Amino acid sequence: MGILGVVILARHGDREEFFQDPYSYETAHTTLTPLGEAQEVQLGSFLRSQYLNPDSPQFINGISTDIAKDLQLLVRADNGAESGVIADSAVALLQGLYPPTPRSAAKLANGTTIVGPFGGYQYIPIETVEPEQSIDLEGWTECPAFREHIQRFYDSPQFKKKAQESGRFLDELKPYLFGRSNNLENMWNIFDFINVNYIHNETFAFRLPPTFLEQARALANFHELGVFTDKETDGIGNVAGRTILPSITGALERIANPNDPLSLVLEEISYKPFLSLFNITGIHAKYPDLQGIPEYASAIALELRNNDEGETYLRTKFKNGTTDSDFRTLHLFGHKEDIALNEFVYRMNLAAIDGNQKWCGVCNQRTTRGCSICTDDVKGHPVPHVPTIESGTDKPWAPLLGAQNLPFFALFAFILAFFGVFKLYKSRRPRLQGYDPIPTAATYYDVPVSYPSMYKQGY
Ligand SMILES: *[C@@H]1O[C@H](CO)[C@@H](O)[C@H](O)[C@H]1NC(C)=O
Ligand SMILES: *[C@@H]1O[C@H](CO)[C@@H](O)[C@H](O)[C@H]1NC(C)=O
Ligand SMILES: *[C@@H]1O[C@H](CO)[C@@H](O)[C@H](O)[C@H]1NC(C)=O
Ligand SMILES: *[C@@H]1O[C@H](CO)[C@@H](O)[C@H](O)[C@H]1NC(C)=O
Repeated sequence: MGILGVVILARHGDREEFFQDPYSYETAHTTLTPLGEAQEVQLGSFLRSQYLNPDSPQFINGISTDIAKDLQLLVRADNGAESGVIADSAVALLQGLYPPTPRSAAKLANGTTIVGPFGGYQYIPIETVEPEQSIDLEGWTECPAFREHIQRFYDSPQFKKKAQESGRFLDELKPYLFGRSNNLENMWNIFDFINVNYIHNETFAFRLPPTFLEQARALANFHELGVFTDKETDGIGNVAGRTILPSITGALERIANPNDPLSLVLEEISYKPFLSLFNITGIHAKYPDLQGIPEYASAIALELRNNDEGETYLRTKFKNGTTDSDFRTLHLFGHKEDIALNEFVYRMNLAAIDGNQKWCGVCNQRTTRGCSICTDDVKGHPVPHVPTIESGTDKPWAPLLGAQNLPFFALFAFILAFFGVFKLYKSRRPRLQGYDPIPTAATYYDVPVSYPSMYKQGY
């Protein structure tokens, strides 16, 4: 009995209002609320009852139940758009998963036993995934092809029809939006504003007519599904799912490997990869009631188990937020039962964007997020060739790079090093980790967009 391990994708908890530019999905600052922290701890406790409880049918064989062992765990959190909301959510979830225990203690050489702070709080490493260093958890940002996809959606007859149908409702909503634009393009921000205030502002919650929140939610679901899905599994609309896939299949393969102690992987994310993954894996098609934005602190679990013949199978479950008591089993790709890990990996590899170079091509991005160093023509999107020493012969200064000048360069480098210039250079390197070690002219600029100034643009 028991399972080999699980990969969990969890959405962050309740947060303050979160503005996203309707055309680029650039974002403004937001913060996790105490309610959000509580929701994540609750999700963590729920997952604990499923996977760390020896009496549960989903108990992970061999996992340490009370004391977290870091080789058995891998925790990653998107650290981009939503400021610290997602990373903080991971911290809170882990507190529910491995709560403080007096057994988190150590006996010292002098005979004293010391218990971890706060009654044995456990410090579990979290890898924060920065969009400027990795495309994994935010494949949609800085992606020109994705912006075109959003614009195509807004220009589509289906969108125009929806805008017409919902025009009256959006007008009725105007007095509750306090100057925010009420066009359908802005639907994410409209819904988020209403939802956040409905949760946090008593006056607002009393004033809002009864059906308005649900009507706005339905339109936001329509909007976000249009943006974060695609008719084609490997279409650009699914980029949020396609970039997270390699980390999911990689984690499942590690868990399936009996020589690897890894058993529980948590990826803390925003709602966007959920939408794309549900589209890619056929969940939306099979379960129409799941065609929407998952609630705060919802989770997908991908459980691995061996059958009697020793084959490894995957079972997928979903819980739509803390009030959903159902941890529902979902069948992928229209199947009626668990799916073989091999089939899952095979199918996912067809859609996955594995690596930066491929992403640069798919997104048609040539400068930011490390793309300035991509030289290959990927999937028919030519990326400009970046001159290297060998290919730089069309440059007037190319002769300078010839072998005869090497001693000169060595001397020059030595002088620079002497004055500490290389040291400066080196200190900048960690920011670019995972890309070219040499800073290029087109380094990623992570300019925080200030919320009021975006409103002035009329959204
Ligand atoms: C033992 O060592 C710890 C850590 O240095 C110290 O806090 C504690 O007071 C020591 N206990 C005794 C009995 O000396
Ligand atoms: C709560 O909502 C009311 C209107 O519905 C608004 O006037 C007030 O400023 C809001 N309070 C806060 C703290 O946002
Ligand atoms: C994915 O979403 C698109 C809409 O963007 C839809 O046309 C397509 O049927 C969906 N695919 C599946 C398998 O649900
Ligand atoms: C989650 O629940 C909300 C309503 O609370 C619904 O709108 C949405 O479609 C659900 N999402 C999924 C993925 O089930």
